[in-house]
Amino acid sequence: MIFSPGKASIHLAAIALSSASSLLADQPAEKQPAPAQSEQYRPAYHFTPQAHWMNDPNGLIYDNGVYHLFYQYNPEASVWGPMHWGHATSQDLLHWKERPIALAPDALGTIFSGSAVLDRDNTSGLGKNGRAPMVAIFTYHQEDALKADQPPQSQGLAYSLDGGENWIKYAGNPVLRPDNGQKDFRDPKVFWHAPSRRWVMALAVGDHSEFFGSADLKQWRRLSSFGAGLGPHGAVWECPDLLPLRVAGTHKTKWVLIQSFNPGGPNGGSATQYFVGDFDGKTFKMDPDFARKMQSSGPRWLDWGRDNYAGVTWSGLQRRDGRALLIGWMNNWDYGEKTPTKAWRSAMTLPRELSLHQESGGGYALHSLPVREIKRLEGKALTFNPRKLSSEYKLPLAKSMISQSRLDLAFAIETGHPKVGFEMTNSLGDSYRFGYDSSAKTFVSDRMASGNVDFSPKFASIDKAPRSAQGRIVRMSFYIDHSSIEAFLDRGATVMTTALFPRLPYTHINLFVEGGRARLVSARVWPVGKVTKPDLIAKRL
Ligand code: FRU
Repeated sequence: MIFSPGKASIHLAAIALSSASSLLADQPAEKQPAPAQSEQYRPAYHFTPQAHWMNDPNGLIYDNGVYHLFYQYNPEASVWGPMHWGHATSQDLLHWKERPIALAPDALGTIFSGSAVLDRDNTSGLGKNGRAPMVAIFTYHQEDALKADQPPQSQGLAYSLDGGENWIKYAGNPVLRPDNGQKDFRDPKVFWHAPSRRWVMALAVGDHSEFFGSADLKQWRRLSSFGAGLGPHGAVWECPDLLPLRVAGTHKTKWVLIQSFNPGGPNGGSATQYFVGDFDGKTFKMDPDFARKMQSSGPRWLDWGRDNYAGVTWSGLQRRDGRALLIGWMNNWDYGEKTPTKAWRSAMTLPRELSLHQESGGGYALHSLPVREIKRLEGKALTFNPRKLSSEYKLPLAKSMISQSRLDLAFAIETGHPKVGFEMTNSLGDSYRFGYDSSAKTFVSDRMASGNVDFSPKFASIDKAPRSAQGRIVRMSFYIDHSSIEAFLDRGATVMTTALFPRLPYTHINLFVEGGRARLVSARVWPVGKVTKPDLIAKRL
């Protein structure tokens, strides 16, 4: 959410007011959604709630063959409001089944973001009859406290003894309150730190993150803090995640702190930065080479697009395959409540696998790629021959294919400093362009004329990302799904996620080369299947 330090109460109060009024304004539409219209932007292979508002992913946990995705959810309207934890489960990270609401507000407050762990050794004592409890650690937000100028946020626990279906709030809540009057004190991400045999919690506190330790998930002790003065000026820190990652091609492990900020993203509004360093069970210290590079070339963003926020990773995967899998909210607080859907609002990004790479000249870079499971939804690829390009080339594709597809392009830059890329258009003249500008060494995502852009003055934008990889061949992979495009560039070294609302589906793709010569090394397009069930959606509406 939008924030400026020291104005937490004003900020949150303002959100509560604007949400309340938009909630009212939205209600008639809620009752009478026009299915055709409201479904126009429903993604086919990304998670969306069947109805109403969603923001951050919460409580991501894999247990017993099931991926759980909890999320910030307002079951009453398609705008932010009294937060609950919605819940969906999947066995493959693609087909999600919506479950009953997991956590609802109570006397201690509404339920903000947090995480979930499996307490295998029953350190919390919340297990029963030998059954290890699944424990959710979340933030309570108490609006009345805020109005009385008191710190509104504390952390609470809930547990499930049936694999995440039913949740019982811990009677001793809250388990952690601010001791210094901090108003922004939220989004606990908890993990088991084996070497020190305790739970560690990363928590966003105003303009930095803090770490707490606990033997039983109930009593927490402050360990250290990280980052005061490091984030974008005027931003609040939200949704931290601290995780170890092996450095690709080595036996070395580094710790990565994934940290959401709002506002202050590289292209405006909400975005997520990362820091690489070491964690000794108590303190997170940035790697000196990483810090030096950050000083000279600026913050490292997990995603340079405007529509990937509050992303965190799944717990419980160590025992499965050790992958670090992240999912984010595919929206931005700059315009999140205004996007042109009615019955539901907001999708999640594709789940992504994170990997850590050593950089030439020192330092580390976090890469992301879509989870390999997505390949199961990809149909037969259409492959186009390599060719020299000096202007436009229209890909001969079935019109209906584009809105739900994967597009991979590789260009070799030859003479001059060309801009290479593609444009998607429809019969109304809506156009979305994505390119690589080889003279500025920058990727450019242009949604200025992409269709329905007027719902917020902050939406239409030309977003840029510096290319971090070297080399003459630029590889770009795009996942297009009706109202979004996710660009994985240079095999995930740079990522840009962009929401789009064309007035009609895009029907054409033109490749372009401007201001020089480039060779199209390869172009491939796959249709991507659908995972949503329209019948179910219709029933719920
Ligand atoms: C991030 C955030 C969190 C908070 C939640 C409230 O998008 O502001 O900090 O817990 O959303 O819905």
